[in-house]
Amino acid sequence: MKALVTGISGQDGYFLTQLLKSRKYEIHGIIRRNSSMGTGTMALLPDEVRDEVEIHYGDINDAHFVTSIIAREKPDELYHLAAQSFVGYSFQNPFSTYDSNIGGTLNICNAVKDVSSDTRFYFAATSELFGHPAQTPQNENTPFLPRNPYAISKLAGIWTTRTYRDAYKLFISNGILFNHESEVRGPEFVSRKISIGVAKIYRGSNNPILLGNLNAVKDWGYSKDYVYGMWQMLQQDTPDDFVLGTGESHTVRDFVEAAFKEIDIGLEWKGSGLNEVGICNGRTLVKVSKEFLRPLESENYRADYSKAKKKLKWEPKTNFQQLVKIMVRNDIARLGKAGLE
Ligand code: GDD
Repeated sequence: MKALVTGISGQDGYFLTQLLKSRKYEIHGIIRRNSSMGTGTMALLPDEVRDEVEIHYGDINDAHFVTSIIAREKPDELYHLAAQSFVGYSFQNPFSTYDSNIGGTLNICNAVKDVSSDTRFYFAATSELFGHPAQTPQNENTPFLPRNPYAISKLAGIWTTRTYRDAYKLFISNGILFNHESEVRGPEFVSRKISIGVAKIYRGSNNPILLGNLNAVKDWGYSKDYVYGMWQMLQQDTPDDFVLGTGESHTVRDFVEAAFKEIDIGLEWKGSGLNEVGICNGRTLVKVSKEFLRPLESENYRADYSKAKKKLKWEPKTNFQQLVKIMVRNDIARLGKAGLE
């Protein structure tokens, strides 16, 4: 079996590559060329896995590039993970977010339709489609009410893939994934920002962690569990859309408290709004900063993944506390090796 993964250098690419390797796939990955020739999370893969991946440098916004790779490789499975995936940035740069997330997805749909219509194609949709959800928990039938440019771009993406699936009888499945994190998560996302901040404090830093909305409610799971669900979606007899999540809601504040608990610190909260702080023994460890607040927040996320459980036999294996532990322990170990920056 041959798989092509766009966005292979991101968090999910890291876990998916290992899963595909363990199942003996021939793996091809697309990475956007940059001046440092960085390969993101691929640099963290074990040598024997990384050495087997064939990397194609290029941009998914370049239709000619996308079509020529897909025509040449004719992959059995294509995982389209590449995106501008940071919600906060999408408010500052909506156009470039639309450009890569809508334009890139359209290029891949067209290429699959025109030159490799037997390819099974996974599209990374998102719980951000629910925005301000009309119901909790959210499942595949919950209306999409996006509240940020990133989510709007993914709305266009999922309707593009659904339309191509119906119009051209393509095998395209959409994963509506709730937040999924890990030890290789990018440091701009709140989970990793917290785990790195806590690890630095454990190693002696005096800098408090600066955060935005502490009361945002998310459903956080472990990326490694979720890539297994993506793969399962492409092993079905028919294409379909699936919600993956844990069914548990937690606030950013819960995440902070759980992370400090890993280093035996019990936080106390004082003040409110922009003046709220998290303290322990008179020392300020967490502060709220305006810089990290969003103009509009998505709300009340909790996944109803019963369809995935029934049809894919998929269930998350890692709970919230285990996820926080994995992330904090990894960052403490990593800082131990690197020394405190
Ligand atoms: N990034 C960040 N930084 N978020 C903060 C901070 C902070 O300092 N303080 C509070 N938050 C809040 C955000 O406002 C948001 O409500 C929540 O923490 C999570 O933010 P992120 O970790 O940036 O993730 P996200 O929920 O916006 O989006 C992620 O999950 C989606 C669903 O799977 C991304 O991975 C998206 O690409 C993905 O679609």
